[in-house]
Amino acid sequence: MVEEFGQQEPLAEHVYDKRVKEYGWVGSEVAFGLAYEYTSPAQTILDIGIGTGLGSILFHKAGMVIYGLDNSDAMLDICQSKGFASDLQLHDMSKFPYPYDGESLDHAVCIGALQYFENIQPVIEEVVRIIRKSGVFVFTVMDRSPSENAAMVLGPEITDSGSTDTIYRHSTPQISEYLQVCGLEPVKSLEFNMFMDRDKRRKSPVKIYVAMKRNTTRRSSGTG
Ligand SMILES: C[S@@+](CC[C@H](N)C(=O)[O-])C[C@H]1O[C@@H](n2cnc3c(N)ncnc32)[C@H](O)[C@@H]1O
Repeated sequence: MVEEFGQQEPLAEHVYDKRVKEYGWVGSEVAFGLAYEYTSPAQTILDIGIGTGLGSILFHKAGMVIYGLDNSDAMLDICQSKGFASDLQLHDMSKFPYPYDGESLDHAVCIGALQYFENIQPVIEEVVRIIRKSGVFVFTVMDRSPSENAAMVLGPEITDSGSTDTIYRHSTPQISEYLQVCGLEPVKSLEFNMFMDRDKRRKSPVKIYVAMKRNTTRRSSGTG
């Protein structure tokens, strides 16, 4: 999946979706299963890095209204052709603000897109601005132990593009700190392995988090 990032040439119809199946990626299904209990039909959800829509189509099937942003026209075209998203925006997720008003959507999801960024705190802050109180943000990161380097270089055998690519992993303490600073309460998380190659020889840990926007403002931690 990683090699699709930034692709400017239009993809053959649903090539990306086929590849996701070949790799046995089930992150979207797991994310939906973890977040489902916090959502209701007719609520809205913003899919950041929506791609072809795999991360939000289950929320649509559960009756929710899908908003999506992505910086790839080709991916958005495929998503659009599926006809389930109510609103799609061509937007770079590292450019702020995103084109949505404050507290205008109920929830947010980001599957398989945060690994392109070393510092994801600004994305989390932007989600907190956009979603309503008690809304959840469900997202995946490439996991790492605190002693491992954040950067992971993917060789040509993984990228399929003949060149190397660098992605970033995020440790549990790092995510906990981001959530705390941004005002999100961690409610669930789950770690599992994803396959990095078609032959399913190389595995890498992924972690899915569900975090809720606090309903009340936290009191400062001073004494008195
Ligand atoms: C691995 S795909 C995941 C797509 C989808 N979320 C899914 O679950 O299948 C990563 C997506 O992130 C998008 N992306 C990568 N960098 C981005 C950026 N800076 N701004 C917006 N989208 C970005 C890519 O275009 C691609 O659609």
